[in-house]
This record gives sequence, structure tokens and C-alpha cells, in this order.
Amino acid sequence: MEVIGIVGLGIMGLGIAQVYAAAGHRVLATDGHDATRDAAKLRLRQSLARRVAAGKLTDVSMAATLTALEVVPDIADMGECDLVIEAIVEKLTAKQGLFVALESILRPDAILATNTSALSVGEIAGALNRPERLLGLHFFNPAPAMKLVELVTRPENAPDAVETARAVTEQAGKTVIQCADRPGFIVNRCARPFYGEALAMLEVGIPAVEIDAAMLAAGYRLGPFSLIDLIGADINLAATQGLYDGMNGNPRYYIFQNLRDQVASGNLGAKTGKGFVTGQSITAKPNDAIALRIEATLANEAASLLDEGDVSAVAIDQAMKLGLNYPRGPFESARAWGFGEIRAMLQQLEEKAPTHLKARYRISRSLAEMV
Ligand SMILES: NC(=O)c1ccc[n+]([C@@H]2O[C@H](COP(=O)([O-])OP(=O)(O)OC[C@H]3O[C@@H](n4cnc5c(N)ncnc54)[C@H](O)[C@@H]3O)[C@@H](O)[C@H]2O)c1
Repeated sequence: MEVIGIVGLGIMGLGIAQVYAAAGHRVLATDGHDATRDAAKLRLRQSLARRVAAGKLTDVSMAATLTALEVVPDIADMGECDLVIEAIVEKLTAKQGLFVALESILRPDAILATNTSALSVGEIAGALNRPERLLGLHFFNPAPAMKLVELVTRPENAPDAVETARAVTEQAGKTVIQCADRPGFIVNRCARPFYGEALAMLEVGIPAVEIDAAMLAAGYRLGPFSLIDLIGADINLAATQGLYDGMNGNPRYYIFQNLRDQVASGNLGAKTGKGFVTGQSITAKPNDAIALRIEATLANEAASLLDEGDVSAVAIDQAMKLGLNYPRGPFESARAWGFGEIRAMLQQLEEKAPTHLKARYRISRSLAEMV
């Protein structure tokens, strides 16, 4: 069993610590904030107790998981770790500084991993003496429950680091999907049209509630506006901005004024009490025009990632289902509609696109060829 280090014990870090501790690894974890370190064990106990109460975990396993997690005062106490995963603040300089410090504490063959969602793993590695030891292990929230982990690799990565990171994470019960170090990796990139196309329809007067109701009827657990409200319009804006910048202003990631306005108004969703659809009861109501438009753009985005190589259509479908609980992957839904129908919808959207959305709906090469 490897010794796993976790730095940052916020929402993600503690969840990731639980994943490896439950799998029988010794986990050494720390956080820069004293009170967060002090509270970590109690938070883990409460999280595990809920699983015991739900009949999903035995008392014996709960005790073993709690024993496996050791909260240490500082990263200096992590010298024996084989793999250290960071889940600290999403800031390039903070992550670079942490890994530089870890390099001088860990054995040269230790593996370093970042849980970043939006930063470039290569840029984080740029400050290191042994950049080949750093990769991405991108977990989804809540980490103990969500099956998917994106393993973000670069050509210079040491093969043994990649294989060990994969093996210990699979052994901890996760489905690991390897992807290249590109903006949004797989899931956060391929999900953009779910929100973007909903905002495009809102822009032309289709009510948010109607759009959410159509996507519920199409089998999605939450509609795009309910999801933006849940996660926060500010987080959604930052994620879209990251993709827009990372993809050189491609109109597929256009940032809609209605999203900017929502953030500027301070109505960020659940966390502020008011959002796009907060407090409104939404019941599923089929609307093929809305569902087809969103699923056509989801398929086109997935196909654009496929065009870039290093990932298969099957892996993208699986990642979208496991990372976001989508009822179908983007290629599966395109197949269900018929690829011809998907292309016809995109062509129609492109023909009618207003100036600010021109080229947004251009059909990706691999989608053009799918039958
Ligand atoms: N929240 C999500 O849904 C989600 C999903 C996937 C990935 N991520 C990524 O995971 C990381 C953590 O996100 P989170 O939501 O758990 O954040 P969080 O704010 O809940 O936790 C971050 C923790 O890191 C600690 N910290 C900050 N800087 C530190 C440092 N230099 N050294 C040690 N500890 C430090 C903080 O005290 C805090 O406890 C970010 O990179 C984020 O982008 C978040």
C-alpha cells in the first residue's frame, strides 16, 4: 500500500483523503489553515457516519478509514509519501510554490498530482526540477461519491508515475480516464454547451424555466439554469472565461452578456438566495427543439475534442456520464437523434447565427464524418 499525501483539506481535499483512506492506504494530510486541520477528523467522522446510517458502510470500515487518515501539521511531515495530491486554492503561483517545496521534501521518485480544474498542469510543472513526476488527478465533487477521475498527462510524464497514479486510483474504486493537458480537460470542456446554448436561447427570449423543463424531460437530473444556480453563476462565468481564453476566443465559448449581468447583479444562485430559477418549481416538459439544440452543440463540442486526438468517443461518453451524471454521453445522444439530424440543426443554427455567434456552430471534422 502506498502512502498518500493530501495538501488542502477543503471540500475536495478531505473527500479525496477519504477515497484513499477507505481503500486501505495510509493518508497523511495537511492544510495551511489551523482550524481546518483541527476540524478535518471530525468532518471525516461525520461524513462516514452518514454512510453508516445509510447502511452503505460498516462500523469496522469506518473505524479503519478514520485510523488511516493522519492529519499532520505541515508538508515537512510528508517525506515518506509515495504520491502527494494537492487540493489547495486554485491559483497558479500557490500551486507552483507548493510543488517546489514538496520536491525538496519527497523522494525523487515520488509522484506529484494536482486536482486543478482550470489551470494548465504543464504550467504548474514549469517551476519544477522534475516536471515529469507531476500529473493531474482531477476528482469531481463530492469526491467519495463521484466515480470519475480524469488523469491528466503530458508527453514528458514518466510512464511509471502515470501507471502508479492510475493503479492506486482505480484500486480505490474510481474509473480513471486519461486525457491531455488541455483547457477544461474532457468534462469541463464538453459541458460548456449545456450552459452556453441555454444562455443563447435565453438571449432570444426563451424562458429559463422552459429550457430547464425540456432538459429534465430529456433525462438530465437538473436543467442548465438550475445547475448554474446550484454551483454559482460566478463559478460558471469563471469556467467559461477560462475556456474562452484558453481556446483563443473561439465563439464556441462565447461569454453571454446575460451571464455577465447575472454575476454583476450579485444574484449568484443558491449561495446568495437568488439566481436564474431559484424558488421556481420546474417539472419536466418535453421540448424537442430545445433538447436537440443543446444535445447537437454538446455533440459538436465533444467531436471538436475528438478532432484534437488522444481520446476516444467512448471515453468522452463515459466521462460525461460519470463526471456529470448525464443520462447519455454526447455521441450516444447524437446517435439516438441521428447524426444527420444533429448536423442539420447545427447548420441551421450557423446560418441564422447573429454576428457575435458566427462560426460558433461550424461542424467539427469528426462529427461531419459520423454515420
Ligand atoms: N469544488 C469543486 O467542485 C472542485 C472540483 C474539482 C476540482 N476542484 C479544485 O480543487 C482545489 C480545491 O478546491 P476546493 O473546492 O476543495 O477548495 P476549498 O476552498 O474548499 O479548500 C481549499 C483548502 O486549501 C487550503 N489552502 C489554501 N492554500 C493553501 C496552501 N498554500 N497550503 C496549504 N493549504 C492551503 C485552504 O485553507 C482550504 O482549506 C482547487 O484547485 C479547485 O479548483 C474543485
